[in-house]
Amino acid sequence: MEIEDFKLKDGRIVNIKILTMDDYDADNNYEYVHDWLNKVNEFLALEFDKENLETNKTNLRFLMSKEGFIMIGGVYNGKIIATANLELNLNNKKMGHIGKFGISIHPDFHNQGLGTRLLQIIEQQAKKKGVKKIEAAYFLGNVSAEKLYVEKLKYQIEGRRKFGGKLKDGTYTDRVLIGKIIDDSMKEK
Ligand SMILES: CC(C)(COP(=O)(O)OP(=O)(O)OC[C@H]1O[C@@H](n2cnc3c(N)ncnc32)[C@H](O)[C@@H]1OP(=O)(O)O)[C@@H](O)C(=O)NCCC(=O)NCCS
Repeated sequence: MEIEDFKLKDGRIVNIKILTMDDYDADNNYEYVHDWLNKVNEFLALEFDKENLETNKTNLRFLMSKEGFIMIGGVYNGKIIATANLELNLNNKKMGHIGKFGISIHPDFHNQGLGTRLLQIIEQQAKKKGVKKIEAAYFLGNVSAEKLYVEKLKYQIEGRRKFGGKLKDGTYTDRVLIGKIIDDSMKEK
């Protein structure tokens, strides 16, 4: 489902849409995305080496089939160059008001305003689904994520999981927990 054409800072136009598994299956897009995710995976929770390709695809197919899972994509020249997902807590009375996001962008499209736009769209989608609070997490040291989430989009740092992640060099880093209330009636409480 088309959402909008978004103009990057350098003038390139990226088509932003809700992705289905058909979009990943078309034109080897799944393999393409897996390949660039492997290039930006220092701070991602999953591994994207070639040997993980099929397992990750099975997991993705499962997530995409879930009712409360929305995958937004940025498409450039027919290729998926960015993904941002929103996971809802459907049927959970105590945490149904919380949504969770994840985001990754192809390195050639960083610092172009795309991350900001994709997360604004994730917030709009979340509001439409009745989400009142959005949560996410990033590894301490992920400067791009911190700039985007905390400085630009005003997510609050809510805590830290000590040594919550391991980096490529074998050292451990904290996982920073962030959140943002998107329901006006809940603010300041
Ligand atoms: C994190 C990520 C999604 C950011 O997306 P992006 O499209 O580059 O972000 P934007 O261009 O919208 O940048 C948002 C703001 O942060 C700033 N910023 C982003 N990366 C920065 C960096 N490395 N250093 C300094 N500032 C940075 C931008 O300048 C911009 O500020 P401005 O609007 O005032 O100019 C992207 O870097 C990425 O995909 N990283 C790899 C995967 C990843 O780490 N995902 C997050 C896991 S938690």
